[in-house]
Amino acid sequence: MRKIVIAVDGFSSNGKSTMAKSLAKEIGYIYIDSGAMYRAVTLYCIEHNLFNGDSLDEAQLHNEIENIKVEFHLNKETGTPDTYLNGENVEARIRSMEVSSKVSVVSAIPFVRHAMVALQQEMGKAKGIVMDGRDIGTVVFPDAELKVFVTADAEIRAQRRFDELRSKGDMKTTFEEVLENLKTRDHLDQTRAESPLVKADDAILLDNSYMTIDEQMQWLLEKFKQITTN
Ligand code: DC
Repeated sequence: MRKIVIAVDGFSSNGKSTMAKSLAKEIGYIYIDSGAMYRAVTLYCIEHNLFNGDSLDEAQLHNEIENIKVEFHLNKETGTPDTYLNGENVEARIRSMEVSSKVSVVSAIPFVRHAMVALQQEMGKAKGIVMDGRDIGTVVFPDAELKVFVTADAEIRAQRRFDELRSKGDMKTTFEEVLENLKTRDHLDQTRAESPLVKADDAILLDNSYMTIDEQMQWLLEKFKQITTN
């Protein structure tokens, strides 16, 4: 069966990563969470004091971007790749609210995007990859054979993210804070000058507000089979 590239784009916290991850496992493809790469660069900026409040020292980041190495290594227990920043496993730390609230600033910077896009394109050269993000079907892999654009109601997405934070032990962050953060990120993602979040013309729209994970998987597998067996 021929190998293809699968691009999954869409709004924050709509379950697209869970979906893309399960699909990759099911069909034996590599899974890459491109958002994790922007989160890792953001963590670097926080830990190297490049942020002063919400304002980022872009010139300093530009000087240091060459020293920021983001990689993925398979976690044998979970069966999915963990994110590494300069050799250190940062998979858990990049999911904090602090990183979530600063990542839009970092991911809007053109030189950061160019560096990450180049890495992503390298990872997809041999195909057989499922990558999720915001610009995968439009910028990273405009020729991807299967493109899915995922959306869901903001309140439903906020509830899912809130439940996830609680299950990971964050008892402080409120539902309203999560909803606010999500709406702000939606807005920033859609209005930034460089590679804004937009559905590719040839992407298939999936609104998963009222779908179970199983239903989404069936839907996706169906699309995958249609393309790879034709
Ligand atoms: O998918 P996520 O929430 O982990 O992504 C984190 C941030 O990175 C999000 O605010 C948008 C940005 N992002 C991006 O600009 N381009 C991508 N391909 C993936 C994520």
